[in-house]
Amino acid sequence: MAQLWGGRFTKETDQLVYNFNASISFDRKFYEQDIRGSMAHVKMLAKQGILAEEEKEQILKGLESILEDVRSGKLLITSEYEDIHSFVEANLIERVGDAGKKLHTGRSRNDQVALDMKLYIRDEIDEIDGVVKNLLAALLKIMEENVETYMPGFTHLQKAQPVTLAHHMGAYFEMFRRDRGRLQDIRKRMNTCPLGAGALAGTTYPLDRDYTAQLLGFDEATRNSMDSVSDRDYLIELLSALSTIMMHLSRFSEEIILWNSNEYRFVEIDDGYSTGSSIMPQKKNPDIAELVRGKTGRVYGALMSMLTTMKGIPLAYNKDMQEDKELTFDAIDTVKGCTALFTGMISTMEFHKERMENSAKNGFTNATDAADYLVNHGVPFRDAHSIVGRLVLLCIDRGISLDELPLEEYRKLSLAFGEDIYDAISMKTCVEKRMTYGAPGPEMMKEIIRGNREYLERN
Ligand code: ARG
Repeated sequence: MAQLWGGRFTKETDQLVYNFNASISFDRKFYEQDIRGSMAHVKMLAKQGILAEEEKEQILKGLESILEDVRSGKLLITSEYEDIHSFVEANLIERVGDAGKKLHTGRSRNDQVALDMKLYIRDEIDEIDGVVKNLLAALLKIMEENVETYMPGFTHLQKAQPVTLAHHMGAYFEMFRRDRGRLQDIRKRMNTCPLGAGALAGTTYPLDRDYTAQLLGFDEATRNSMDSVSDRDYLIELLSALSTIMMHLSRFSEEIILWNSNEYRFVEIDDGYSTGSSIMPQKKNPDIAELVRGKTGRVYGALMSMLTTMKGIPLAYNKDMQEDKELTFDAIDTVKGCTALFTGMISTMEFHKERMENSAKNGFTNATDAADYLVNHGVPFRDAHSIVGRLVLLCIDRGISLDELPLEEYRKLSLAFGEDIYDAISMKTCVEKRMTYGAPGPEMMKEIIRGNREYLERN
């Protein structure tokens, strides 16, 4: 037990209490950020004349060597320290002696941990953003290759109207693009430096908080010291954004699971991304997609935990807030892992384009177009709807598609039908005619794809 306090105590901390209270097992994750923060603090203290230049140099050298030794594995972060802050400080004092004892001047662990977590999260936001960007690049590639791959679009999981694979993937492109936007918003809003807030009420030393903020790449210093040490809003925002990413991945997974089923067979997941059964030799299971869908609950759980932890905490810092770490780290690791694996899975997945097109044909997805044909020949839409409805019924009865129904049957219900009906309801025509902004028509799709590519190049 190596702790930073004790003067006021006459008894040792109970071992179980110590263990319960300690955070080293998880806050060790941000040792780099803790050291970076200390370096900036020390530079600021020296600039303000609170530390001598020489002391600053000694401390910086000491911190640098700790950083190197932890990175190389020479110095192990062990559980004999309560948290990462005590670990670094104790090691510093061991290495540079008395100067090291001045590191914590004008600082509390409350503003220190608030800083460390922000630095860590800021780095992680950039990483998550990169992983989501890779997913967008994979989606864009599929879009580019499938502008004319026809498939049924669904509503109520019933075949509705024909779309293309590019268009369907394009919907996910939009979702994940918004997800990146959310991450950027959060990063911008959280980028204020809490160091110098002290335990809750600032300090009596003449700190230059703007200077520290600048050294650490923050836009500005936080404006209220009590809020600085007790604000966890940005974590709630982040967990909400991460939950949304998982929700999108989960919907996508659900579709891939359906598409990979025997009934659909729209896709074939690569052997490298599926698993078999120990008893049923025929099985090839979409486990990755299922796990991604499953792990979504875990990230939602983190969001709920954080919201609940924060709801009854009086100002300012309270130990409850230590609970923010494990669940946020877990959510971040889950999202990064799931997104990367998902990207690999869809990049290697094979699309059965013919089956997709046949499925669109056999599901009467061109029925709206048949009705539109009549409207174009002067039949009021409501009547056209009813005529085509009866034609569909006839086809269902005969087990054929609208494309296969003889012209005489069409003409029995309306003389407006001519030979050109078949062209009007072909998948190609049905899709090509859908050329409004955002629709699946190939020309429109190519324009959207161009825009998406530019977006990826710029962001
Ligand atoms: N481990 C603590 C946390 O994660 C650091 C801050 C501790 N502050 C304190 N006064 N005990 O929140």
